[in-house]
Amino acid sequence: MPRLILVLLAATMLPLGAIVWPGGMARAANVEFTEEFLNDPEVVAAGRKIFRAQCGRCHGLRAYPGKGPVLKPKKYKPAFVYKRVTKGFRGMPAWKKFYDKEQRMSVTAYIMSKDFKN
Ligand code: HEC
Repeated sequence: MPRLILVLLAATMLPLGAIVWPGGMARAANVEFTEEFLNDPEVVAAGRKIFRAQCGRCHGLRAYPGKGPVLKPKKYKPAFVYKRVTKGFRGMPAWKKFYDKEQRMSVTAYIMSKDFKN
């Protein structure tokens, strides 16, 4: 009965995942954005590259209508942007598997910067 075994395996894995997961959440929330980092032109430039490659197609003026909201950085704190980028939210994909912490922080710095264009 391989199917039953699979179901049982999945059931035993679930609590395990719950134990491992809070650690990941704590780490995601624990980033610190210093003024120095947010204003570093190299960081902002790296973030802009990521935004153009991945985010513009859903966000902003050139996006297919309705794909994603126009971003309003004045309403955000860096930690919020970082959290959305890292974990996703409803229609917003999570990028944790695709970009490392530094990259997710740099795209955040770009969105928060005066250079940001939707
Ligand atoms: C497949 C389309 C898609 C892509 C690609 C995408 N997003 Fe999103 N994003 C969304 C949608 C849809 C939402 C709104 C989710 C909701 O609140 O229901 C969103 C929400 C957000 C928010 C929160 C906005 C708010 O006001 O609540 C941020 C910040 C964000 N995205 C940043 C990014 C960044 C940075 C990238 C690139 C790494 C990116 N997104 C790529 C679809 C996308």
